[in-house]
Amino acid sequence: MNGSWRWCQTDEDQQGRLLEIASWVEEARRNGEAWVGRWNREQLAKEIQQARWIIYEIPASAEQSGGLAGFIFFRDLNQAWEISLTVVHPRFRGHRVFDRLFMAACEAFEAQGVGRDVWLEVRADNASAIAAYTRVGFVLSGRRKAYYADGMDALLMTRPASNN
Ligand SMILES: CC(C)(COP(=O)(O)OP(=O)(O)OC[C@H]1O[C@@H](n2cnc3c(N)ncnc32)[C@H](O)[C@@H]1OP(=O)(O)O)[C@@H](O)C(=O)NCCC(=O)NCCS
Repeated sequence: MNGSWRWCQTDEDQQGRLLEIASWVEEARRNGEAWVGRWNREQLAKEIQQARWIIYEIPASAEQSGGLAGFIFFRDLNQAWEISLTVVHPRFRGHRVFDRLFMAACEAFEAQGVGRDVWLEVRADNASAIAAYTRVGFVLSGRRKAYYADGMDALLMTRPASNN
């Protein structure tokens, strides 16, 4: 599953991606994927403008159609980065797309002198996300009881900058 990553920076690029990502969110909502929560097009549009974000694209080949495989939004908290949302398209899940994106982002942050701890919140029942986060060095740092609307706990996970 070879592709390439890049930061999504220009307005034009971001607006095009917004439509695509909003359609992923709607599809996931229809499929009952719990991570979707309250994400909607309006919130995505705000996040797209405020976050630094990195995307992974797969070129089309004889074996598979290509396209946007995944993205990570990094919110700037000054002393840390927070992953506010990361999604890999269902077609590309289970192929370590998240690892590649996350490690590329960490290396780029380091090179820019803004290598920091990374924080995130994840539903306690989101086993595939917890597995992916653990693999790249996140550790459990807290739990918020019944944090989500359906009563599910949120796990707080942190990856110290020194893990790079
Ligand atoms: C969490 C997510 C970003 C991980 O991305 P990824 O590139 O698929 O990550 P990995 O390839 O490392 O797979 C992680 C785990 O997903 C599970 N997995 C494997 N294949 C899968 C598939 N086809 N579909 C779903 N999950 C799969 C496995 O448990 C795997 O862990 P393991 O290899 O130790 O068994 C991705 O699953 C996703 O987009 N999920 C929906 C959105 C979400 O939950 N985001 C996080 C909350 S904001």
